[in-house]
Amino acid sequence: MKKVFVKTYGCQMNVYDSERMISAMEPSGYVETKSKEEADLILLNTCHIREKAAEKIYSELGRLKFLKEDNPDLKIGVAGCVAQAEGEEIMIRQPAVDLVVGPQSYHRLPSMVKTVTNGKRALDTEFPEENKFDHLPKDLKRRNNPTAFLTVQEGCDKFCAFCVVPYTRGVEVSRSPEKIIEEARSLVDRGVVEITLLGQNVNAYSNNHSGENYTLSKLIWKLSDISNLQRIRFTTSHPNDMSQDLIDAHRDCEKLMPYLHLPVQSGSDHVLKKMNRKHTADDYRRIIDKLRKARPDLLLSGDFIVGFPGETDEDFLDTLRLIKDIEYGQSYSFKYSSRPGTPAANREEISEIVKKERLAELQTLLKEQQVRLQKKMIGREVNVLFEKPGRLAGQMVGKSEYLHAVHVTGDRIRSGDINKVRIITSETNSLSGRIE
Ligand code: 5AD
Ligand code: SF4
Repeated sequence: MKKVFVKTYGCQMNVYDSERMISAMEPSGYVETKSKEEADLILLNTCHIREKAAEKIYSELGRLKFLKEDNPDLKIGVAGCVAQAEGEEIMIRQPAVDLVVGPQSYHRLPSMVKTVTNGKRALDTEFPEENKFDHLPKDLKRRNNPTAFLTVQEGCDKFCAFCVVPYTRGVEVSRSPEKIIEEARSLVDRGVVEITLLGQNVNAYSNNHSGENYTLSKLIWKLSDISNLQRIRFTTSHPNDMSQDLIDAHRDCEKLMPYLHLPVQSGSDHVLKKMNRKHTADDYRRIIDKLRKARPDLLLSGDFIVGFPGETDEDFLDTLRLIKDIEYGQSYSFKYSSRPGTPAANREEISEIVKKERLAELQTLLKEQQVRLQKKMIGREVNVLFEKPGRLAGQMVGKSEYLHAVHVTGDRIRSGDINKVRIITSETNSLSGRIE
């Protein structure tokens, strides 16, 4: 039995893909290990979204090469978006790397590993003509977890001026609903009760199946027919694809959880235009209004970029205004990072000091909102899906319908249980409560 160690960086799609790579290696006699030292194959599943993320990979490779001194048969591979974007450069910069595989070629991993065990190096960053989803291993390896990710769509045709995704993940491709439902059923058969549908642009999901067009909302409705599936979520969405049927599903579909990650990036129309977002700040406000009419308790999450080339103080204030108008319960915010090959890469950059100041101000506001919304949960009853033991003895941690982490003490709680919990306190990034 050989051992494979996979380290995952970046988004949830990579988490899903890492599981797929482990499954793909099983027929070749590999099992997963959590220890780099005992691995025969180490794979880094990488993220290229910001410069820092990509640089981390080269530092990690620098450390990993020393493991080869103790174990000359060890093979090191780089997968994911850095592999896609900088494949040949990786091979040149780090001779310890044996293989480089892009996200569209994971089904070729076993044959590539065979090549490298014969002492050669292997690189595959092609965008194959055939649908990569056809090659997903049927029996995905799953850990004992009541929640799972399920990729339904990959790639992006939006071409935001700052973003590498359309180049590293290619054009939008939606998986067939039949295959998705089959995978969902098999997950549920293995005890999964919550599925998060994944896609870089998940709400652009569209697939013609037996003469019927499946949108994301239709898919959600179909999945909600699986009786032991209790919860459905989806991520990540673009405001322009937030169609009325999907908004209605937030009102009508009980299994669709009241949480939505809907990135806006900026609250300034000038910046949104320069970013090629193809919507205004008010378009976004209107979508949120509709969503909140449909589901008043919806908890919103967003992504923000500060210091995009050309962003003025006034533009930045517009972003703060938008955040105040919306009120986010969760958020992810970043300093703009110039990415080679993207349209914004050659534009004049804002100074690092200004970016840093703006990010600090933005994050203070977002944190205040998160704390305020969390405190509002005190005294309320939520439904918690328990996942794993907490840090304290006898404690279990789970997620509320709003995706808050909730800690509860009680010996009879099992992973996979859904219980009503009364919230008692709010901590930095989580809530605590008791089952009544
Ligand atoms: N610089 C900073 N943040 C970026 N993101 C994407 N590209 C960049 C970039 N070049 C952020 C966006 C996106 C999230 C996944 O990462 O906010 O929604
Ligand atoms: Fe990147 Fe924009 Fe596509 Fe999101 S919508 S993946 S930010 S190009």
